[in-house]
Amino acid sequence: MTDGAGRTPLIAGNWKMNLDHLQAIAFVQKLAWSLKDARHDFAAVEVAVFPPFTDLRSVQTLIAADKLPLEYGAQDISEHDSGAYTGEVSGALISALECRYVLIGHSERRTLHAETDEQVAAKVDAALRNDLVPIICVGETSEDLEKHGPSAVPVAQLRAALAGVTTAADIVVAYEPVWAIGSGQAATPDQAEQVAAQLRSTLAELLGADVAGKTRILYGGSVKANNIAGFMREPNVDGALVGGASLDLTEFASIVRFRNHVGV
Ligand code: PGA
Repeated sequence: MTDGAGRTPLIAGNWKMNLDHLQAIAFVQKLAWSLKDARHDFAAVEVAVFPPFTDLRSVQTLIAADKLPLEYGAQDISEHDSGAYTGEVSGALISALECRYVLIGHSERRTLHAETDEQVAAKVDAALRNDLVPIICVGETSEDLEKHGPSAVPVAQLRAALAGVTTAADIVVAYEPVWAIGSGQAATPDQAEQVAAQLRSTLAELLGADVAGKTRILYGGSVKANNIAGFMREPNVDGALVGGASLDLTEFASIVRFRNHVGV
């Protein structure tokens, strides 16, 4: 099942640097069970988790063995395919763990690790050449918002991230205003829609109307069970990238089941 535009909503949980591999196994198992108990239709709303690298093999084994209807991915990727890059993890290594997705250019990578737009673009290329779907994260700081308005920086970041992409590509875009991440101060659905619409027209300009129409655009930044429904009502918002709330099983399961919330 898809939304009106044919895009299957995606609810993605970015665990950041939390949960070891044993905790990951317990969490993923409980998440799958509780969603199955609630008769969640996984084909109607896709669910993905993004554990730390050290958990990925355990998550892969569990999901494959128990045939759990969950997707998973890595939180970052090296722009290089192999070689002397101590501490880095390549697309080939991530792909070997049957990850479907990889987060690229999260604001914490951009600010805490000085990741540039050029590196983000190189990582998008690395993901695509290793058959991974990049979830390209873009978003403005509060200073950007004041200086340039709501969509200028996210649109510029998306353009830069797609510099090496010329053909139809399977990608996801996550709009995450930096001021909304971990602050408890989410954007309004209206603000998210405004930027998502600009991002979609940028995709249309760069990659064509067909890719733009198929690409899911997520909102991220203080998404909770009590505000998800508002975002999901917006025509250009196709899901959420959830940080803090993705570590709380009940809260995350409730976000996934946004269609059961009153008024949706
Ligand atoms: P948050 O984080 O949900 O805790 O605001 C979102 C993110 O960083 O992806």
